[in-house]
This record gives sequence, structure tokens and C-alpha cells, in this order.
Amino acid sequence: MTLDVRMFTVGMVQENAYLVRPEGGQRAVMIDPGDEADRLLHPLQELGVELEAILLTHTHFDHVGAVAPVAKATGAPVYCPKLEVGVLADIMAFVPWQGFGPFESYDADETIEGGETLELAGMTFDVRFTPGHSPGHVTFAVEDALFSGDVLFEGSVGRTDLPGGDWPTLAMSIQALLDEYGDETRVFPGHMGPTTLGRERATNPFLADLTRS
Ligand SMILES: [Fe+2]
Repeated sequence: MTLDVRMFTVGMVQENAYLVRPEGGQRAVMIDPGDEADRLLHPLQELGVELEAILLTHTHFDHVGAVAPVAKATGAPVYCPKLEVGVLADIMAFVPWQGFGPFESYDADETIEGGETLELAGMTFDVRFTPGHSPGHVTFAVEDALFSGDVLFEGSVGRTDLPGGDWPTLAMSIQALLDEYGDETRVFPGHMGPTTLGRERATNPFLADLTRS
């Protein structure tokens, strides 16, 4: 199956939200609607697709700021990491800097913690537990792609200085992805541009210690 992946970079923190569906499909999944709900809802109308689910890699405000308005407008259920439902339910209490928001809180419809297989919109998503950037962080694997939130970036990795962050834990999460998926696997991250596991394995300085072993 060929995926149709559309990336929308939204909000002051320039977070990547993704609209994913099988090519030509009438149903879609949205990953990490971080801000600018109108900009994310518009393509659904334009493409004539129905949103079947909203998947969250983690609940930092820049990834979930538009969850409530998108969920309410579409009726799509929200799948949230189990360890972080309390953050989604009280977003503004966890916005660490002033000047962002206000964002609307949301009570998750479904929880995920890694190990699940989700059949959504004609696609199969494997949920992988990838903590280290945040305590409940998950990565979604579908076809030849990883939607990895703030685990791995082009030439960089997710920060580990926020509450619940931890570099050895994040390193283990990245190692597990490198062990499981091949070099050709496409990586759609929460910030900056898409990359591949092979490219990061070969050039990402943060992974040098991991790939040497
Ligand atoms: Fe984050």
C-alpha cells in the first residue's frame, strides 16, 4: 500500500501535524494536531475525507493544542499515551512558557501504551513505546513509515530536559527503532523535515554511540 502523507507545520513552535491515508482513500488519520485547527480541518473538506482517528505521540502542548477543536469538529476519537492523559486533560497547567495558547483540554477517548496494533482508515498502525523525551511517548509504525514525534530528528534528537525526560531512556528507544526497522524506513518527525532511519544511522551525531556497538 502506498501512503498519502501530508505534513502541516503549525503553531509558534513549528510542530509537524500529519494527515495520513492510503493513497486515494476516503478515510484518514491525523497525528499530533498541535495548533491551527482551521488549517488542519480545511484539507479534510478539500479532499472529501473522513477523519477516523486522532493519534498522539505525546502530550507536550505544541503537539496537542488543536486536539479538542479537531476532535469536536470531526467526531474522531483521540488515542493518547496512557501515562499522559492527565496532561491532555489539563493542558494549560503543563504549558511551561508564557505566551502560548490558550489551548483547550480534552479527555482522551482511547489510551495506548505501546504493543497495540490499530486498524484505522484501512491502515495498520503498530504502536511502539518510545519514552525518553516524555514519559509516555509512543511512535506509530505504518507501512514503510515511522511517525516518531519528538524521538528522532534530522541530525538531532528530542530534548530530554523537560519533566519526565531522560537521555539514556531516549537512547534505548531510538536503539529499539534502529534494531527493528530498516534503513529505508521513512521517518516523519514532530519538528523539521522528514528523513530516513538509514540517513540518521549514518549521519546523526547523537546516534554515533548507538550505531558503533
Ligand atoms: Fe515534545
